[in-house]
Amino acid sequence: MDLYGRDFIVSQDWSLGELEELLDLAAKMKRDRFSPRWTSILQHRTFFMFFYNPSVRTRQSFECAATELGGHAQFLEPGAMRLRTATTAGETTEDAAKVMARYAAGLGIRILEDKVPFYGAGNDLLREYAHWADIPIINMADDRFHPCQGMADVMGWAEWCGEGPGRPDYEKLRGKRFLLTWASGALARSWCSVQEALLVASRFGMHVTVARPDGYDLDPQVYEWTRQNCADNGNDFRITNDPDTAYDGVHVVYSRNWVTPQAYQDGAFQKKAEQDKATAVPGWITNAERMARTDNAIFTHPMPIDRGMEVTDAIASGPRSAIYDIAENRLHVQKAVMALTMGNL
Ligand code: CP
Repeated sequence: MDLYGRDFIVSQDWSLGELEELLDLAAKMKRDRFSPRWTSILQHRTFFMFFYNPSVRTRQSFECAATELGGHAQFLEPGAMRLRTATTAGETTEDAAKVMARYAAGLGIRILEDKVPFYGAGNDLLREYAHWADIPIINMADDRFHPCQGMADVMGWAEWCGEGPGRPDYEKLRGKRFLLTWASGALARSWCSVQEALLVASRFGMHVTVARPDGYDLDPQVYEWTRQNCADNGNDFRITNDPDTAYDGVHVVYSRNWVTPQAYQDGAFQKKAEQDKATAVPGWITNAERMARTDNAIFTHPMPIDRGMEVTDAIASGPRSAIYDIAENRLHVQKAVMALTMGNL
């Protein structure tokens, strides 16, 4: 499969075969991290990382990934450029995209939460860059999707169900039960990571349950894709408002706080209102009692974790927690993404 030049904006845009090729390369890169097979793939090339929002994992892992491929990752932020916005004069996205494409091998963009005026505007911006730039646009988390996180997640689940680090077995995920549960807390998180997790879990043959309080549903389009992915695999997709029975018999538990569909009003992110709403729904936490209802489930989370709200320390740091393996996998899957879409493989 020739993935050179492809954008990576949501996993649903790539075929299952393409995702499997990416994950296969990521596992090889993890098993043999500094092999000379990989260390010149981006030689003399630059990957631009355009961050509207802060990051720990995404920035560090992309920088390390570019270094390990023999290239360079350059950090960009909108405050250091003169870009046109809804309220300020400046350079158009067309001009910025076309110029950046003359310099770099690829462009990653992160834009979500308070940096967008309405739900979907961040994803729209990535698609506009993809329209104008003839280099790959890589989603580093927008307000809808986080495909690099989704790939790291599914690789981690398949490692835990398979032969361990670097030896994922995706067949073992088929027929397993995946639970995504809303969690209490005041972080007012965007939907990108959890929506991507629904897409990859359903794509890779898992039954999917979403547990959330009434009023906390996700994007209907993502529900529809998830429902269809599950149906294609003969699997169930269900939604419940019961924070306890949702855990019964599941194999992978993913808990995270997220905002309501009313998070954007009057062209702005209503963070305080979302925090107030979430505070009124306490007790949605992954703890030992709820994990005891599962089929010896692993715990997964994209991080950063709101410990004591989304999950107890005992579970987040316990023997069935996959969080650090998955954080590490960000490096390996992003090396594979860059190698396949912009590298000299
Ligand atoms: N999971 C994730 O994207 O982490 P950061 O926000 O730290 O990049």
